[in-house]
Amino acid sequence: MNLIEALNWRYATKRMTGEKIVESDLDVILETIRLTPTAYGLQPFKVVVTQKKELLDEVFEKSCPQIVIKQCSHLLIFKARKKLDSEYLEGYLKEMKRLRNSTDEYIDGYRSKILKVIDDPRINKFSWTIRQTYIALGYATVAAATLGIDSTPIEGFDAQALNRALKLDTDREEAVVMLTLGYRDGKEDKLANLPKIRKPMDLLVERI
Ligand SMILES: Cc1cc2nc3c(=O)[nH]c(=O)nc-3n(C[C@H](O)[C@H](O)[C@H](O)COP(=O)(O)O)c2cc1C
Repeated sequence: MNLIEALNWRYATKRMTGEKIVESDLDVILETIRLTPTAYGLQPFKVVVTQKKELLDEVFEKSCPQIVIKQCSHLLIFKARKKLDSEYLEGYLKEMKRLRNSTDEYIDGYRSKILKVIDDPRINKFSWTIRQTYIALGYATVAAATLGIDSTPIEGFDAQALNRALKLDTDREEAVVMLTLGYRDGKEDKLANLPKIRKPMDLLVERI
């Protein structure tokens, strides 16, 4: 499948078979998330990966009663950072210096640029980190499709209940979106063979 074929093939899968995806495919999806571009490269999120039945059952019962949670092979839970403190920022700049051997002058300039965002009271930091997180969600969805793996992006859940189930320190981070991975149950899923609903190109794209 080329990219467009894969994107036409994929759909937000409502029923899965429970069949497991192979570890090497999971690794490709996670590496895709790792390579996702983010503003300033800060990657202000983490991804919890689980295939543990007890946790999937708990997520289903307490936070997200969508049956695909119990039928997936793996569940990815994307957590966005609530704050970007100086410890986090300095850790990133240290890596930049180590990997690129950047000059102190360059690092200082880069720090100032980032601080303009971090210190800007008009910018809601959590909303900003959530936006970065959704880029990774999109990349993961595309990666899965190119591997012939089904997925469901899921926003419809009780975030507070999920934060509690994962024992998150909500001053630092929160679960914001999930992605199931697995294989469609084509017989049970009414959506499996329906045509896509998408705007025609001329209503979506303005060429100027
Ligand atoms: C951020 C996001 C959140 C979504 N949340 C849910 C959800 O909670 N449950 C669900 O069944 N589908 C969910 N969807 C799937 C969308 O409804 C679906 O992608 C959209 O209708 C387009 O259809 P398609 O992906 O099948 O082509 C979500 C999709 C996105 C991108």
